[in-house]
Amino acid sequence: MRNQPIHWGLEGIIVAETRLSRVDGERGELVLAGESVERVRGPYERIVGALLGSALRERELVNRIGWARARAFERLDRLGDALSARTAMAALRAAVAHLDESRDSDGEDTALELVGAVGLFAAAWARVQRGRSPVAPDPSLGHATDFLRMLRGEPASDAECRALDRYLVTISEHGMNASTFAARVVASTASDMVSAVTAAIGALDGPLHGGAPGPVLDMLDAIGEPERAGGWLAAELDGGRRIMGMGHRVYRVRDPRADVLERALESLPAPDDERRAHRRRLAQSVEREAERLLAKRHPDRPLRANVEFYTAVLLEGLEIPRELFSAVFATGRVAGWTAHVLEHRKTGRLIRPLARYIGVEPTPSSAHAS
Ligand code: COA
Repeated sequence: MRNQPIHWGLEGIIVAETRLSRVDGERGELVLAGESVERVRGPYERIVGALLGSALRERELVNRIGWARARAFERLDRLGDALSARTAMAALRAAVAHLDESRDSDGEDTALELVGAVGLFAAAWARVQRGRSPVAPDPSLGHATDFLRMLRGEPASDAECRALDRYLVTISEHGMNASTFAARVVASTASDMVSAVTAAIGALDGPLHGGAPGPVLDMLDAIGEPERAGGWLAAELDGGRRIMGMGHRVYRVRDPRADVLERALESLPAPDDERRAHRRRLAQSVEREAERLLAKRHPDRPLRANVEFYTAVLLEGLEIPRELFSAVFATGRVAGWTAHVLEHRKTGRLIRPLARYIGVEPTPSSAHAS
């Protein structure tokens, strides 16, 4: 074992076959359940069905996920302190862990329950945080539409609902990312789907994975004006800090999801106030400057905008509070997590790699004694 190479971060290692998505980091291509991310159609329920390999029609999926939201809402009283957690992701982890779907029916039904529950818990946490009561779901509505309604306490515009739906579809699945891998590791032990999704939520919470969009907005706030971007970013890099929303483990070109989300942002009605228009201009110039500075410092390692960069600006444009961003990511990505759990059960094996021991060796006599 001493001479074997160590694959830190499992970079470049293929650990599974999947029918769910193809991520081509060199060409910047993403295929979701057989369709390119630029062309994949909503609503979100449709891609959920496609990823789960469901035989249900779109309308039935809308109903099933809607009723899953309603059941999760009924559970809120039994969640104890979960919704008063300091962060949305801590609340989500606790609330999801509270679900007790039986292992016997631990297939597509549980996956749909989880899809409904994650969105409901996320919206409910945001309400409780602002001292308001959670809003009961309307099971007849699409997931994105109802999410915005439950969050705001009143219906959002069609354009806003479509933009959130596009976001949820775009981030529904993305190969063997860290949270999906965490879910697959848990599934590989023959544990249950709720446990797998709970582990995935923990992995998504980190700023190197799904926790970047909030800090992207903090960065835009700190920069303030487009002409300050270069100086601010250079100082960050000089201080050894990373620019949030830039770089990706797999993509060596601009993340294709950044394109889709930037277009979704453009599809929102023309900003009625100067602040929102200014925000878009600021984001675009920060991206350009960050790209330029990173290219200078890392000429051999392309570091371009990733999905989180425009996630931040889009979700802000939808008036979603930034402390909820990672939980909204989970609201979409739970589709991929549950689909991977089902897929792993069919084809996967217990995931159990090795580690090279570099600690103290026992002295020969104590080794003998044991
Ligand atoms: N800002 C500044 N430098 C960055 C950077 C960023 N966003 N991303 C990578 N780098 C630098 C690293 O410091 C490293 O430099 P070094 O070789 O001089 O030490 C080099 O680029 C390679 O980085 P590495 O850590 O090997 O990349 P990775 O594949 O492990 O990281 C990310 C991928 C996403 C974790 C990384 O790009 C990052 O931290 N991005 C910011 C957080 C973010 O946006 N996360 C959301 C991801 S979707």
